[in-house]
Amino acid sequence: MKTFPQSNLLQQLPKQFFASLVQKVQTVIAEGHDVINLGQGNPDQPTPAHIVSAMQQAVAKPMYHKYSPFRGYSFLKEAVAAFYEREYGVTIDPEKEVAILFGGKAGLVEMPICLLNSGDVVLVPDPGYPDYWSGVVLARARMEMMPLRAENGFLPDYEELNEDVVRHAKLMFLNYPNNPTGATATKSFFQQTVSFAERHNIAVVHDFAYGAIGFDGKKPVSFLQAEGSKDVGIEIYTFSKTYNMAGWRIGFAVGNESMIEAINLLQDHLYVSMFGAIQEAAAVALLESQQCVAELVATYEARRNTFVHALRDIGWDVQAPAGSFFAWLPVPNGYTSETFADLLLQKAHVAVAPGVGFGEHGEGYVRTGLLTSEDRLKEAAERIGRLQLFLIKKIIDKIGMCCHNSN
Ligand SMILES: Cc1ncc(COP(=O)(O)O)c(C=O)c1O
Repeated sequence: MKTFPQSNLLQQLPKQFFASLVQKVQTVIAEGHDVINLGQGNPDQPTPAHIVSAMQQAVAKPMYHKYSPFRGYSFLKEAVAAFYEREYGVTIDPEKEVAILFGGKAGLVEMPICLLNSGDVVLVPDPGYPDYWSGVVLARARMEMMPLRAENGFLPDYEELNEDVVRHAKLMFLNYPNNPTGATATKSFFQQTVSFAERHNIAVVHDFAYGAIGFDGKKPVSFLQAEGSKDVGIEIYTFSKTYNMAGWRIGFAVGNESMIEAINLLQDHLYVSMFGAIQEAAAVALLESQQCVAELVATYEARRNTFVHALRDIGWDVQAPAGSFFAWLPVPNGYTSETFADLLLQKAHVAVAPGVGFGEHGEGYVRTGLLTSEDRLKEAAERIGRLQLFLIKKIIDKIGMCCHNSN
């Protein structure tokens, strides 16, 4: 069999940092250990029953067995507009300001290809969701990092960006509630973003994947709630997290007409639109009772509280996330995010994601998902607590040995 080399472009795609984590976890499981895996971001709950049932009925409809309209069914785009009006008080033109996506990831990767030419600069949050990097490479564009620091609430500080970088920037990614830090944004930050983007002619892509998941009674703010936001950007929303539909592969982009047209044009060439039955079930998700969403957020909030309290009980000084389903935990002195993640996996059988996998500024943290029961989260904290005691005992024993040797 011949082996055909991959194109130069494919070879430049970023390496999947977390593939090695998956491998390590599998090795420890294969050794017979009960691993509590907090390293991944895959929702653990099923899709709500009324959405599954809408899908089951829609599958039988012959109209969906044909090719679906290229840019999606109008009923879904109208449902998206109704959802934005109801949830955020934002008015959307369903035909010009909505693009249906095969999951949020597809839109995030497509956007640089839609707008950028070779060498153009994209501003990317660091730490951030690694899939932003892939679209930048496919567009042959250049990535410049915007550091997200704890002291600034994990929001980028536009003032600290290099003037030359800003002058060449054409596109910017933002994501709040944030993966990996769990931070949320304010309307005033988004307002500041609109001014910055307008001043420098930068198209903004706000990734609102965790838009439904805000804690302590605080609903996350949509970028489109900032005045003038549609002049400079879009928001990308997914059904994966809000409705536990990660396997269904459906999302949408809303906002700036020219950016939406560019996505639709690219997708006209890449695909025929998605299976109509999925679109019908997605419209049901947006339009019918949102009780399932309230219950999901309450579940994540209860898990967050249990986990954060359990970690504080073992003496780990951690911050509670304001949104998303992740907790971003500082690594103790003497470890990197990778050596600490390895230690937790090998000695406590708890898998976490090393922060450095999300960018240079993720160093010093590990990311944990709140995607298992409160009991398992508590047990994870207790195992880490026992590991601490074990390590302290080892140090004491070592000191004891030194004393004996010197006696
Ligand atoms: C920050 C962020 N954006 C986008 C996505 C993509 O979601 P999907 O492609 O399932 O819509 C994810 C998934 O984990 C994510 O964490």
